[in-house]
Amino acid sequence: MKERLEVIIIGAGIGGLAAAVGLSTKGHKVIIYERDPEVSEIGAGIQITPNFTRILRRWGLGKRLHERGVNTLSSRHRRWEDGKILSEYALNANDQMEKKYGDPYYHIHRADLQAILLEKANELGVTCRTSAHVVDYVHQGGKERVVFTDGTSSTADLIVAADGNRSILAKHVLGHDVPSSSVGDSAYRGLIPREQMQDPLLKDLDLEYNQDVWLGPHSHTVTYYVRGGEMFNFIVALPDEPGEESWKAPGDINKLRKHFENWDPRIRAIASKIDQSYIWKLRDRPALERWVHPHGSLVLLGDAAHPMLPYVAQGASSAVEDAAVLAECLDYAKAGTRDVQSVLQAYEKIRKPRALHMKNAARSNRAQFHMPDGPDQQARDKTMKDESISDRSINMFKDKERAQFLYGHDVVNEVHEYFQATAKL
Ligand SMILES: Cc1cc2nc3c(=O)[nH]c(=O)nc-3n(C[C@H](O)[C@H](O)[C@H](O)COP(=O)(O)OP(=O)(O)OC[C@H]3O[C@@H](n4cnc5c(N)ncnc54)[C@H](O)[C@@H]3O)c2cc1C
Ligand SMILES: *[C@@H]1O[C@H](CO)[C@@H](O)[C@H](O)[C@H]1NC(C)=O
Ligand SMILES: *[C@@H]1O[C@H](CO)[C@@H](O)[C@H](O)[C@H]1NC(C)=O
Repeated sequence: MKERLEVIIIGAGIGGLAAAVGLSTKGHKVIIYERDPEVSEIGAGIQITPNFTRILRRWGLGKRLHERGVNTLSSRHRRWEDGKILSEYALNANDQMEKKYGDPYYHIHRADLQAILLEKANELGVTCRTSAHVVDYVHQGGKERVVFTDGTSSTADLIVAADGNRSILAKHVLGHDVPSSSVGDSAYRGLIPREQMQDPLLKDLDLEYNQDVWLGPHSHTVTYYVRGGEMFNFIVALPDEPGEESWKAPGDINKLRKHFENWDPRIRAIASKIDQSYIWKLRDRPALERWVHPHGSLVLLGDAAHPMLPYVAQGASSAVEDAAVLAECLDYAKAGTRDVQSVLQAYEKIRKPRALHMKNAARSNRAQFHMPDGPDQQARDKTMKDESISDRSINMFKDKERAQFLYGHDVVNEVHEYFQATAKL
């Protein structure tokens, strides 16, 4: 096996860029093809859990993350009607995350995370070609080839498809299209500049450096600061008619304001400050039966491999986890102990159960977060208040074992353990 693989990555989203950093750090030669004319600034907040921070730190990005991210102190769940705190959990307060899981927690703007990864990729010598729309994949005579809209093509030893939740490469891996269905919700996302948040009504909420999750009937809202504390980020999930999937469609602000009509006057005050938002019509997709092409060296990564609803905010994190695992697995091929195909299978085996876990957690979080007022909601709120009954807590950090499974997890170790275990067989 060649020491240094030539790798094509399709898509310069978080997953594609992370894969570029991970693979080139391991010495592979990487080129990214991105459909858009430039790496998009669009997007809003992303949660960086401690296990995510760990990977970025390993890639030497800890300082840049600290500069552009926000070191969020606590997470609070609130009741929609009056903002009453239902549950509160310390994140970086008293360095809790660092002490418990070894690394801190951050919130960051998607564009900042993308920029950090792109900078690093450039430093590592990765080429990123924009306006390069891949329309086809051909596996022929042991060669991996991707074809662009203008009919030109490019070959490599390995193709990593990080082309998002509407991946066209997934079809080549599966042999069929990935069906999707509306979940009946939309997510409105956007930012409010810090200056506009200076409002006496909001002072008591202490929104700065905290995350708030407002739970309401059929709807929830998550808020926190990003861009080093300069921008207030919100995401509001609410019932909506199905429609075209897009990251770039503007949301109807009046509809958004009207949605909060009977909510806590303070969240109405926040809504009144919103003057721009993006709307995502949420669609659910089944778990894919396979992530690796049956004969070719084509592998899916990120949303392309495991499209998930945003209710656990793990899309970006899962994509980066994939990237770190893939890079680590390929080291075993480089060392000559495995061939590329078997290493790609290992990547799928390692990543699939965790991705599936998050996918299902996202589905169940939706039900938990959107309970209409009534006995179920009262039971939920009571459970949330009672820290000792942590098994059913919708706050992932509250369940000791689950939190350790989630955030104490080290993907790199997992890869080594996997190969050690299979070597013994
Ligand atoms: C514009 C945008 C804004 C987003 N904003 C947020 C946000 O604010 N918060 C959040 O939690 N998540 C956001 N997401 C989703 C989040 O980034 C993903 O869930 C997660 O990061 C996994 O990313 P990914 O790299 O797998 O896919 P994506 O982020 O979807 O990236 C896929 C990339 O592949 C490119 N691409 C697709 N098809 C082709 C093709 N045929 N040829 C070449 N290139 C192609 C796309 O243009 C895109 O850049 C956003 C995604 C996008 C694309
Ligand atoms: C998939 O991506 C589209 C944007 O292309 C977005 O509108 C949609 O919400 C995403 N689906 C999921 C399940 O995240
Ligand atoms: C962190 O853990 C969560 C929970 O298992 C997972 O969804 C995510 O992909 C992990 N992120 C990274 C970067 O390892």
